[in-house]
Amino acid sequence: MTLDPYFEPAPGGDGAFTVEAPKIKFGLGSLSELGDDAKALGMTRVALYTDPTVVKLAPVETAKKSLKAAGIDFAVYDATEVEPTDRSFKAGTAFAKDGNFDGYVSVGGGSVMDTAKASNLYTTYPDDFLAYVNAPIGEAKPVPGPLKPHIACPTTFGTASECTGIAIFDLLEMEAKTGIAHARLRPNLGIIDPLSLATLPRMIVAANGFDVFSHAVESLTARPFSHRPAPENSNKRPLGQGANPYSDLACREAIRLVGENLIAAVNDADNTPTLEPLMFAGMLAGIGFGNAGCHLPHGMSYAVAGLVRDYNAPGWPSNHPMVPHGISVIVNAPAVFRMTGPACPERHLQAAEAMGADITGVALEDAGDLLADRVIEMMRQTDIPNGLQGVGYSQDDLEALTDKSFPQKRLLDNAPLAVGRDQLKGLFQDALSYW
Ligand SMILES: NC(=O)c1ccc[n+]([C@@H]2O[C@H](COP(=O)([O-])OP(=O)(O)OC[C@H]3O[C@@H](n4cnc5c(N)ncnc54)[C@H](O)[C@@H]3O)[C@@H](O)[C@H]2O)c1
Ligand SMILES: [Fe+2]
Repeated sequence: MTLDPYFEPAPGGDGAFTVEAPKIKFGLGSLSELGDDAKALGMTRVALYTDPTVVKLAPVETAKKSLKAAGIDFAVYDATEVEPTDRSFKAGTAFAKDGNFDGYVSVGGGSVMDTAKASNLYTTYPDDFLAYVNAPIGEAKPVPGPLKPHIACPTTFGTASECTGIAIFDLLEMEAKTGIAHARLRPNLGIIDPLSLATLPRMIVAANGFDVFSHAVESLTARPFSHRPAPENSNKRPLGQGANPYSDLACREAIRLVGENLIAAVNDADNTPTLEPLMFAGMLAGIGFGNAGCHLPHGMSYAVAGLVRDYNAPGWPSNHPMVPHGISVIVNAPAVFRMTGPACPERHLQAAEAMGADITGVALEDAGDLLADRVIEMMRQTDIPNGLQGVGYSQDDLEALTDKSFPQKRLLDNAPLAVGRDQLKGLFQDALSYW
């Protein structure tokens, strides 16, 4: 008897899963409590990270007002690059170095929260830039000790960076998207206030919504934790431990909320009622993938983002060509679902139903196709580019995309079936265009 037949024990498989719970506060208007929270964490002089767009918007005003009311001194850094690079992480660090700060606050999307995490790290424990970066690109040196306190206040709802110990960036010289990952990078508190989303452009809402959806579906359909080889000792259990009963709960609800709200959030003139449920979905999916881990759509997305040539996404600032994160993920997803469907058909069927597909009379062997078709339909309804061709790739790029993704072993191994190099290339081929 197990909680779910999906977690049936396997020989040599893990017998336990752990639950990582980030500290978060959720609620309309909660950002106005920032000053009290900063004080409780002992902050007296804060480095307030944001970006050139968000600095002019209400959330930064609210944050500044609340810090002032609590008697906390601060200085604003608003030069964060959107989809940051190593250049941008270094510039953020230079700002913090001479500021004598004892705390960090980030108000913005994943780009801002990640830049604040990296700036905190390199200012507190200076080292060569590649020292802390994930292997094999960097040395993956662990963060040596505690960082200064950081409160992350998202103004987007996709990345869940406020819940994670991850900072992602583009390493310019290698055209590679990579990151720094360590539990000590996790913010001390995430303040998730749906009022902060009021000004989010519709295409960014679409990209965030699909990012949330993909976090949730990838976690739900990940290899079961019980089929991952048991760790040598309990401290070596990875964060991406595979699908488990705890992450399932959060992910099923996240998918349902995205299915119910995303189209209206992108297309309705007044999308206010959809923002609270979508931001809650983002939080749930963050808790889900923080414990289960993503797999193929995210594993492939790093190549799609890293090898970009000239794509500029409408709705994003275009100081450098880029495929925004949510788009670089969802263009792969339908091709992946068609392949992973047979590995856990019930879960693909549940996801399709939660996204609004009619599942009456659908055979289990068609579950992956049904989910893929429903996602394609929603991509079209929200003006997402038509697969990899829609973001500037062609048949000639398949080798390079495959070469860049195949080393993402941690993510590929979390898929519900084994994927070799040829199959991965086949997935990129199938993701070239959908309609
Ligand atoms: N650390 C993690 O765990 C993690 C996870 C997934 C993705 N990421 C990274 O996060 C980054 C993407 O973050 P994102 O999708 O949150 O977007 P973002 O921070 O890149 O912002 C996208 C755009 O939206 C604007 N914007 C943000 N909030 C706004 C608002 N309320 N109103 C109007 N405009 C607003 C920004 O100025 C920017 O132009 C990527 O670099 C990605 O790789 C990090
Ligand atoms: Fe993501």
